[in-house]
Formats: sequence, C-alpha cells, structure tokens
Amino acid sequence: MERTFIVRGDIIQAPEKERIEEHGDSYLVVTDGLVEGIFSSIPSRFSHYRLVDCRGHIVMPGLSDLHVHASQYQFRGMWMDEELIDWLNRHTFPEEEKYRDRDYAERAYRIFVDDLVRSPTTRASIFATIHLDSTLVLASYLEDSGIKAYVGKVNMDRNSTAGLSEDSAQSLEDTQSFIERTEGWTNVRPIITPRFIPSCTDGLMKALARLAVDRGLPVQSHLSENRSEIEWVKELCPDSTSYADAYRRRGLWGATPTIMAHCVHSTGREEDLLAMDGIFIAHCPDSNANLSSGIMDARRYLDAGCRIGLGTDVAGGCSLSMLRAMGDAVRVSKLRASCVDPSLKALTLAEAFHMASVIGGSFFGKVGLFEPGWEADIVVLDESGIATTLEDLSLSARLERVVNLKSEGAVMHKAVCGRWLF
Ligand code: GUN
Ligand code: FE
Repeated sequence: MERTFIVRGDIIQAPEKERIEEHGDSYLVVTDGLVEGIFSSIPSRFSHYRLVDCRGHIVMPGLSDLHVHASQYQFRGMWMDEELIDWLNRHTFPEEEKYRDRDYAERAYRIFVDDLVRSPTTRASIFATIHLDSTLVLASYLEDSGIKAYVGKVNMDRNSTAGLSEDSAQSLEDTQSFIERTEGWTNVRPIITPRFIPSCTDGLMKALARLAVDRGLPVQSHLSENRSEIEWVKELCPDSTSYADAYRRRGLWGATPTIMAHCVHSTGREEDLLAMDGIFIAHCPDSNANLSSGIMDARRYLDAGCRIGLGTDVAGGCSLSMLRAMGDAVRVSKLRASCVDPSLKALTLAEAFHMASVIGGSFFGKVGLFEPGWEADIVVLDESGIATTLEDLSLSARLERVVNLKSEGAVMHKAVCGRWLF
C-alpha cells in the first residue's frame, strides 16, 4: 500500500507541446505506483486511500534529465572561459582522473546523488567516468536513492590525457563487468557510453555497438556540439558524410534507444538521420551558452516531431535543476529568433515543460504525464520566498515564476514511480 495514495493539490502537466493543463485543487490518484487519473473530487472506490495533502502547492510530473555528467558535479559553476576541447583537456579530464580513487568517488558521488534527490529530476541518463569501481559506487548510491537512472561507464581509448586513457580490450571488459554487476537492479540500468568519436577508436565503437545490441542496452553520446570538434571528427572519419553518419557506420546509431547530446550544428542529412532513426536529442541550453558552443535550433526539431528533450549537461551546465533547463531553453530560443533567424518562433514555457517531462520521460517508459497507467513520478513545488502582491495567478504563471525565480531548492516533495523520496 506504500505506493498507493491520493495527492491533493494544484495539478499541472503538459500533455501536448502547445498546452499546459491546469487542475486547481484536484486529486491525483495513484495505485501501486501507477496513475489512475486526476479527479475534481475523490471517487468513492478510492475513498480508503491515504491522502497526501499538498493543498495550495503545485503538483507536477517529475522531470527527466537526458544528459548529465555526475563526475563533473564538483566543478559546477566554474571554469567556463574556454570552448569544448580546451575545457575538456584543461579542466574536465584532470577532474575525471581523480575517480581512479574510490574514496574520492565516494565523497563526490555522495554530494551529487544527495543534490539530485533534492532536484526536480526523477529520471536521468548519466555519464560517470572510465573507472569501473567508481561507476559502481555511483550506481549503488543511485539505486538506494530511489531515482531511476541509466548510468554509463564511459569509454575512452584515444586522445585523452595519460591519466584518463583505457586500453581498448580493458574498456570493453570493464563495460561488460559493469553490465553484469548491475543486472537485476531495480532503479539503475546500464547504458553504453562512448564519450564521443574523438575519444573512441573504430574497433572499440564497433565492439560497443555489438554489446548494445546483444544485451538490448541503450546508447548515449555527444553529437555536433562545437565547430572545432566537428572538424576533428571529419579528419578522424574520412569515410563518413557527417558526424551522425560516423556513429551510424560504427553501429552506434539507433539500433537500440539512443541519446545524442547537443546537436547544435547538425544540418541537412544529419538532421534527417536524427528524425528518421528516432534518436533522442538532449538539448542542453546552459552548457551551449557556457562553452560558447552555439544556440541550437530547438524549434526546428520540435516542429519536425523529433524526440527532443532537455539535459543539464553539468558541468558544461551549472545546475542540476531541470526547472532551470526549461527557463534556459526558452531564453536561448528567444536569442536565436532575434539574432539568427527572425522567422523562427521562440519556445514557449509549455513547450519547454513538455520537452522536460513528456518527451524526455518517454526515454524511460510511460513517464512524464498523469494519465491512467503511467508511472507516478511526482514533484511538489514550494513557492515560498518569491512573494508578490498579484492574486489569482494561473497555475502556468505560478510555474513560470518558479522556473525563473526559484529553479534551485523549490522541491518540497518528490515521488518516483509512486515511492516518496521525501
Ligand atoms: N564532449 C565530449 N565529452 C564531453 C563532456 O564531458 N561535456 C560536453 N559538454 N561535451 C563533451
Ligand atoms: Fe555532455
């Protein structure tokens, strides 16, 4: 009965990208972790359910972070004066080297997981580092936390610092060990995680592709984030017509569910491949600003019906808050519309909400909506500390204020698949 209850509150969701649905003072009924529906009064058949009284507070679906590096959380909010490749070499790789030490990993991942629990995220697709032991530490903390996550042991067998390089055979073997040692877990599942093409040899990528298909595992990586990166991939993969095509030829493209982060500079044939092959795009607006990567054209992908969700990309992005990612997605799309292409319409709050909940959630199953049979991922917001004289604000306006004024520390309660984390 623990995952069976009714939440009373101001319920809000974004079932379609154009529309935020508002249910002031209503009841969300959950049976054994699954949504029964939203009701204006409690149907008699549920009258014996435990009531979770969140009257006056916004109750929304949990958000899905499609792209975050747990191993970069310790330097969030710092060191962002360079573009991607220099940033990786000067800051990111030296920090990730430290995860060779299990004690360091325990301290760092404890902080990351504790903060993720307090965030609006209920599902996440996460990069760890190349290190098997440390990645298992992260996975076990997440498993115990109740958050549902895909965790990737990162693969890197070329073009890294000396302290962050793997032998190709060892990289594959450690990935297999990680998969075996997390088999049967409840909340954490492995995801195949070649860092990006410059970090992985063709042989390793092809072997990882076979592993993904054999074990039915999803794949995550980075695509067309930065102009110098794209030029480098052209040199590394003369056989390929685009960066996407380079992944495709190595088997790491849509054979199993696939997330590609960024896609800032994807054009033409690469866009077609993203759409045709149902690749999940993780749009990471804060990171793309911080690393001067560019302003991705989220409008184009959204209107084309692509699976485009949001990611925080910590530590390219500063914050773990997917509420902030929603606000950032709207803001950068306005810059794109005004500075790059005046014919574009900026994203709306409803669209950003839909991307963060429904589209991102679909990578994890029936997640991101309060529809019958969907998994009950619930976030209750705390709007205190942002006082206003205005009265009778709509639920959407209240959500917008939290997104823009209180994206950190706004979560009062959170449930994942009907299990309350706090
Ligand atoms: N491309 C390859 N590795 C990384 C990373 O750690 N962060 C970002 N933003 N892009 C990458
Ligand atoms: Fe990233």
